[in-house]
Amino acid sequence: MNERKILIAPSILAADFAALGAECAAVEAQGADWIHVDVMDGHYVPNITFGPATCAAIRPHISGVMDVHLMIAPVDAYIEDFARAGADIITAHLEAGPHIHRTLQAIRGAGCKAGLAINPGTSLDDVVYLLDMVDLVCIMTVNPGFGGQSFIHAQVEKVRHLRDFIGDRPVHIQVDGGVTPETAPLVVEAGADVLVAGSAVFRGGSITNPSVYGDNIRAIRTSFERVRCMT
Ligand code: DX5
Ligand code: ZN
Repeated sequence: MNERKILIAPSILAADFAALGAECAAVEAQGADWIHVDVMDGHYVPNITFGPATCAAIRPHISGVMDVHLMIAPVDAYIEDFARAGADIITAHLEAGPHIHRTLQAIRGAGCKAGLAINPGTSLDDVVYLLDMVDLVCIMTVNPGFGGQSFIHAQVEKVRHLRDFIGDRPVHIQVDGGVTPETAPLVVEAGADVLVAGSAVFRGGSITNPSVYGDNIRAIRTSFERVRCMT
């Protein structure tokens, strides 16, 4: 059984865009381990969210890890901007360009931890040769671009195989998309240790009613801890 510390990383894609700084502070105060920032360019994915300036604006409101998920193509030209904005982790998509090895080198060269994200349709074949270049592999359990989508259950076995490939390396497995109290136990049991959750954390709450965020985070945490106790 996966005995790693499980981290919960709320995605601010599901937060109030008119109050992102306050939302980051509120959800951290309610138990978030990381803040997941979904950057979308309307080219790599059919949606546009925010960029380096927004990351820089919310950075002072985040006391912990700012985990920046780049759903953009090309990537390399923007890495320094997100590093300067205060990103602790920059995750690029394997599918976003022809030279992912160089992109990962550039992310670490900018002083950030390097993440590699793969879409539901992408196999682990190309990931296995990059495991010494990354600090995190993000397994997308939805097609990127939007929050509130349904979890793609076929990706659970990908998590399990990836954990085997990673072995003793200090590499996080992050799962991103459709993570709820119903799906979290599946991916934790398979070997994931960082859970991104947007809708499941922010739904029903607000910065004027942040305790709902805490209830939602606890519901996710309880869901997999209950399963861990039984195995
Ligand atoms: C989708 C993003 C996810 C998404 C998760 O492209 O990468 O982080 O915001 O949202 P939920 O948890 O609502 O599926
Ligand atoms: Zn994401």
